[in-house]
Amino acid sequence: HTIMIDTSLDISIENTPQSRVAELDQDNLKFGRQFSDHMFIADYRDGQWQELRIVPFGPMEFNPALAVIHYGQTIFEGLKAYRSDAGQVRVFRPSANWARFNLSAERMCMPTIPEEIFVGGLKKLLQLDEAWVPNRPQSSLYIRPFMFATDEYIGIRPSDTYRFMIFTSPVGAYYSEPVRVKIETEYTRAFPGGTGYAKSAGNYAGALYPTVKAQKQGFHQLIWTDGLEHKYIEEAGTMNLAFVIDGKLISPQPSETILHGITRNSLLQMARDLGISVEERRVTVDEVVTALRDGKMQEAFGIGTAATLAPIAMISYQGEELPLPSPTDNAVGDQLRKALDDLRYGRAEDPHGWLMPI
Ligand code: COI
Repeated sequence: HTIMIDTSLDISIENTPQSRVAELDQDNLKFGRQFSDHMFIADYRDGQWQELRIVPFGPMEFNPALAVIHYGQTIFEGLKAYRSDAGQVRVFRPSANWARFNLSAERMCMPTIPEEIFVGGLKKLLQLDEAWVPNRPQSSLYIRPFMFATDEYIGIRPSDTYRFMIFTSPVGAYYSEPVRVKIETEYTRAFPGGTGYAKSAGNYAGALYPTVKAQKQGFHQLIWTDGLEHKYIEEAGTMNLAFVIDGKLISPQPSETILHGITRNSLLQMARDLGISVEERRVTVDEVVTALRDGKMQEAFGIGTAATLAPIAMISYQGEELPLPSPTDNAVGDQLRKALDDLRYGRAEDPHGWLMPI
């Protein structure tokens, strides 16, 4: 839908005395280590979002009893702004991230935030830090909105007060090479009735131990399976998944245990627009492993905002290493990456109205 942002939003702005943008080395962008000049803040108190402000990016003080540190009531989002070949800065589907943020907020017993504040605050911040949006191939400005509980109280109950913030970080690729992944059949990321669909910090914290274990065995990431039977493919923790089997693009249907990826949703729509046949449904481990063994899987990739479209080189299942074939010309992944690049760098029309100019 068209985003109608109330430009009369009352945001106080404290400009940085000295921009750090000259320190940005566009040819050596790493993921998530460098932050642009400003950050947006809003505080929730007395049932209201208030004190909307943009201040120089920097450390904050907090009380050691801050609720979030103890019980993890915090959520986040990830989205990206791109600079088109013509130099225009546009944000990819901010309202979709806003809607998902509020779903996460509800699940974590936190207040929702109006679109005017989420998207309007972001727009103001980007107008101020526009120079931080890189223009190299595959580069973008990663945007991190988040909210956390700020009561200074260590009893267990939902906090009465919260802080919402947005900062940004110029980034290049998240994975620098095709990824090696292991189908996880011991640990579990999410259970039915749990928080798997929410972008809450605890999902990521709980995934660290099994992921590090797999990394020590030489894998980049895990493919999580359902917690009840380890029979169905879920997601990869940093990204959703899609497989090309017999020429069809197949992706596990988002559920309450799978994050509803916006990049996933967008790429599947683009695949349909390209005439590729797409299936969103439950995908069994058996189907994936059998297709790999029989040479019926042509491609596999992760899809996420940070990861974009990350080709998978090898999938391991219970010690058996199942390599993917080397990508052929006109592979589905390549077609999708090109379509996404054409869209985000302004080389093609935006038929779905996904890009918001700042
Ligand atoms: C994303 O923004 O794509 C995430 O899921 C967060 C993380 C992988 C950096």
